[in-house]
Parts: sequence; C-alpha cells; structure tokens
Amino acid sequence: MKKETALPPSHGTQPFDQVIFKRRSVRGFLPDEVPDDRLQEVFALAQQTPSNCNVQPWIVHVVSGQARNTLQEGLLAAARFPENMHPDWPVDIKYEGVHRERQFDAAIQLYGAMGVERQDMAGRNEAFLRNFAFFDAPHVAFIFLPVPFDVRQATDCGMYAQTLMLAMTSRGIDSCAQGALTLYPDLVREQLGISAQQRLLLGISFGYEDIEVKANAARVGRGTLSQSVRFHR
Ligand SMILES: Cc1cc2nc3c(=O)[nH]c(=O)nc-3n(C[C@H](O)[C@H](O)[C@H](O)COP(=O)(O)O)c2cc1C
Repeated sequence: MKKETALPPSHGTQPFDQVIFKRRSVRGFLPDEVPDDRLQEVFALAQQTPSNCNVQPWIVHVVSGQARNTLQEGLLAAARFPENMHPDWPVDIKYEGVHRERQFDAAIQLYGAMGVERQDMAGRNEAFLRNFAFFDAPHVAFIFLPVPFDVRQATDCGMYAQTLMLAMTSRGIDSCAQGALTLYPDLVREQLGISAQQRLLLGISFGYEDIEVKANAARVGRGTLSQSVRFHR
C-alpha cells in the first residue's frame, strides 16, 4: 500500500493545549474560501488519525463552490418536509439526567447568544435551519462509512473528525461538527454522485469565523474530570 505521510507542519501552528482550548463550534462564517494548499494540509494531517487495525474507514467528501451552493439549496428545500428525513442511523435518542442538563445548557447558551426566547419555536426552527446553510461556511466536509461498518468503525471516524478540526484550529480555520447534516443522506449522495454503499455519519462546515454573527458569542463548558473519569489501581 502506498504510504503517504503529511509533511511536518511548517508554519501557522500553535501550542497543542492552546489549540484544544481554542477550538469551539462556530456557527457563522465569512464567505472567504480556505486556500487550496491549506485545505490539502489539514486533510493530510487528519489522514494520520489512528483506527482499529489501521483500516481507516472514513471516506470524506469536501464540498465547495457551486456544488456547495446547490447542496445548500437542496438541503434547505428538503428540511421543509421533516417527514422525509431518513438518516442512515437513528437520531431519536432522548437524553436524560446529567446528559439532558448539558443538552439544555448548550441550547440556553446558543439561543441566549442569538436572542431567541425559549418559547419562540419559530425562532428556534429558523436557527436550526441555519445548519442546512452550513452557517454560511464556504466549505463542508461529509464523513461517510462504507457498508457494513458500524459503531466500532464510527469511533475511528470520531477520532478523524477531531483530528481534522484541531488541525484546522491550529491554522486559524474555524469549524462546526453537525449531526444535522446527516438527516437527508439520500439527497447528499444523489447530489454528490455517491453510492448507497456509503453511509453518512457526520458533516463539518468550515471556513473563517464571522465575529459579527451573534451565535458565535455562545460558549459552553464541560463537566468536571470526576464526572467522566475514574482512575483505578
Ligand atoms: C458529533 C457532533 C455533532 C454535532 N451536531 C451539531 C449540529 O447538528 N448542529 C450544531 O449547531 N452543532 C452541532 N455540534 C456541536 C456541539 O453542539 C458542540 O460541539 C458542543 O455543544 C460543545 O461546544 P464546542 O464545540 O463549542 O466546544 C455537534 C458536535 C458533534 C461533536
């Protein structure tokens, strides 16, 4: 197998811890595209992601320009008929307990920053539809898993997504992972000419933050270490 190794980063990088803390979900982008050499660089870095038996199950489609605009149009039209939603994996999970609290807090932070009241269902729906406009980002990456891969290989793709987003952050590129972009996978496959053998796991919009967009003032925290991690001896 041909081995491709990303070149060591030459410039534009920041200390690792700083990159981890700096990455956050951006939900409002400028129209400026990321230069091609930078695109190649961040995807080459993400290619270094570890995976079970090194199978590297991710298949990534990066969509920009006219293809991106056509897809936005299609997704926004599709989202008017949520009854036609057929995601490749179910999305009907109901969070409970501490997970529900965190979900609530994230919504409060986001809608609070946007000035959308809790009871304002139309406003919340409008905010949700921004997902399908990729929050105006000039690029979107779709991560697919080939059939018959499932949850174990999805963990590899989760690692891929984080490596990609951190590589982007280190080079001043902002991003937002979006489960919402997997709700109409047939449309994405059709518009990009992708076989039904590839199942859609995640979308990531990316570009450069528009600091004027209110949603970008939202900040969420994290649970304490002891809530998630037990050290055993
Ligand atoms: C797998 C995944 C799916 C997500 N889906 C969405 C989404 O559909 N829309 C959205 O606005 N944010 C989405 N997010 C962003 C999360 O809300 C965000 O990561 C979380 O609130 C933590 O905030 P931070 O990314 O700013 O640290 C998603 C994040 C992940 C990792």
